[in-house]
Amino acid sequence: MQKLTQLASWKALEAHFEQVKDVHMRDLFAQDNNRFKKFSAQMDDILLDFSKNRITDETFRLLCDLAREVDVEGWRDQMFAGEPINVSEFRPVLHTALRNRSNTPVYVDGENVMPKINRVLAQMRYFTERVRGGHLRGYSGQLITDIVNIGIGGSDLGPHVVCDSMKPYAQRGMNVHFVSNVDPTHLTEILKFVKPESTLFIVSSKTFTTQETMLNAQSARSWFVELTANEKAVARHFVAVTTNKKAATEFGILEENMFEFWDWVGGRYSLWSAIGLPIALYLGMDRFEEFLDGAYAMDMHFRSAPLEKNIPVVLALLGIWYNNFFDAQSHGIMAYNQYLRRLPAYLQQLDMESNGKTINREGERVDYLTGPIIWGETGSNCQHAFFQLMHQGTKPVPSDFLIPARSKNPLGEQHCVLLANYFAQTRALMKGKTEEEARAELEALGSSPEVIEDVLPHKIFEGNKPTNSILFENLEPRTLGALLAMYEHKVFVQGVIWNINSFDQWGVEYGKQLASDIQQELASRHEISRYDDSTNNLINYCMMLKFSD
Ligand code: F6P
Repeated sequence: MQKLTQLASWKALEAHFEQVKDVHMRDLFAQDNNRFKKFSAQMDDILLDFSKNRITDETFRLLCDLAREVDVEGWRDQMFAGEPINVSEFRPVLHTALRNRSNTPVYVDGENVMPKINRVLAQMRYFTERVRGGHLRGYSGQLITDIVNIGIGGSDLGPHVVCDSMKPYAQRGMNVHFVSNVDPTHLTEILKFVKPESTLFIVSSKTFTTQETMLNAQSARSWFVELTANEKAVARHFVAVTTNKKAATEFGILEENMFEFWDWVGGRYSLWSAIGLPIALYLGMDRFEEFLDGAYAMDMHFRSAPLEKNIPVVLALLGIWYNNFFDAQSHGIMAYNQYLRRLPAYLQQLDMESNGKTINREGERVDYLTGPIIWGETGSNCQHAFFQLMHQGTKPVPSDFLIPARSKNPLGEQHCVLLANYFAQTRALMKGKTEEEARAELEALGSSPEVIEDVLPHKIFEGNKPTNSILFENLEPRTLGALLAMYEHKVFVQGVIWNINSFDQWGVEYGKQLASDIQQELASRHEISRYDDSTNNLINYCMMLKFSD
């Protein structure tokens, strides 16, 4: 592929950037009454208003040219068709097949994978209905009331954000807990709240080798056996979700309690597979399938909407505009909905593990910025924490603002106040406050001319801070499925444009290797001298604190 920065559309964007970099959105809105109509897109009830961005008609046209020149549509079609686009792991990338609700064949190495996907969905339905209906009980006949998911990364973050967000749909009396951290505190604190006879542990791990998960699973197993004095009962209380049946069998999990998925599903894209088992247990299989339906609807939109109205493509292009032309380092996720509090954590893995790359698909170092730092917080909490920097700091933070029009918990006027804050923030970030406006406000307060001169600079807001508003009717399984798929495709499109493989994560492996090395050293309890001076001294000091009398 021709180098990104040499493409005609890229060069055109570079030249165009010089012309528009100082243009203020205030003026763009004043000049054009049609910005909302032009710069918005919809899929079902999900509306994306991207008019509060530093773009002109020409910017948007050039960004869409870029998408065409790198052949986003061709890559998209290759992904859906099961081509091996994960080039460093020689695999297709087929999380979309997991939610292919049309059930049309999808082939991997000549095999239609839909029958096996449907088989696991049926297994999930059978299992979850028996647990939820009280037919499958704990070893002593007690109802299962607590699900403990043991997994990390993609085997935790996806099901965790969905279960948290869909709490209003949970079965009464059913609780779900997530243990991920190898810090023993995580498991210990959760075990304080559950009883072995009414708890089902799901050991979720694509590889079934991840150290954190395996240690937590072993500790949970020991706790279970210690309290029940019934080793045989482990089989009733532990199930596995994995691509590695052999390792799960060695752990002691019965074949009938294993839920399979496949190596063409990336960890951070796996919540649509049996990794969604805690979701299905907590909400019911019907709700889980609605969640898949929503993602499928977004897939259809991504595959068929013209680029200019294609929500994931538009989000991706705007991200490129700020990342590569304005040098924005980060991207904010502000969900004005308490149920979505784990969304930034989920999107951090999705985006940063996918596009945190320096080497392109041809194995060369890129000479442009790739994936941004993703961060965020729920609204309106974010306003009282870091929004000062958003409004008056020196760093641009393009952000997505999400909100449902209806609340699941209508308490007096509270949701209307939340909505008002949501609209006010994106408007304030866009518009800012001019010197004249700030002066007029101070004068109206009766401030003296001297005070006005002193205070005035602090009261001015530059504005021109870009935001995407993502508004939908209700936060329900279908909508959440669509929103998460929207972000998956956004990340995919950006990876295509940056010419990187969004589906491997070799960078994560190196730390794991070193940790296992150091772990052996710690066990030896000898003074350490084989690492660098900092690491040696840190380890030795820590061991002295930990083990001295
Ligand atoms: O360490 C990163 C990672 O490999 C993620 O990509 C993955 O989601 C996570 O670990 C967990 O892996 P597994 O599901 O195999 O336990």
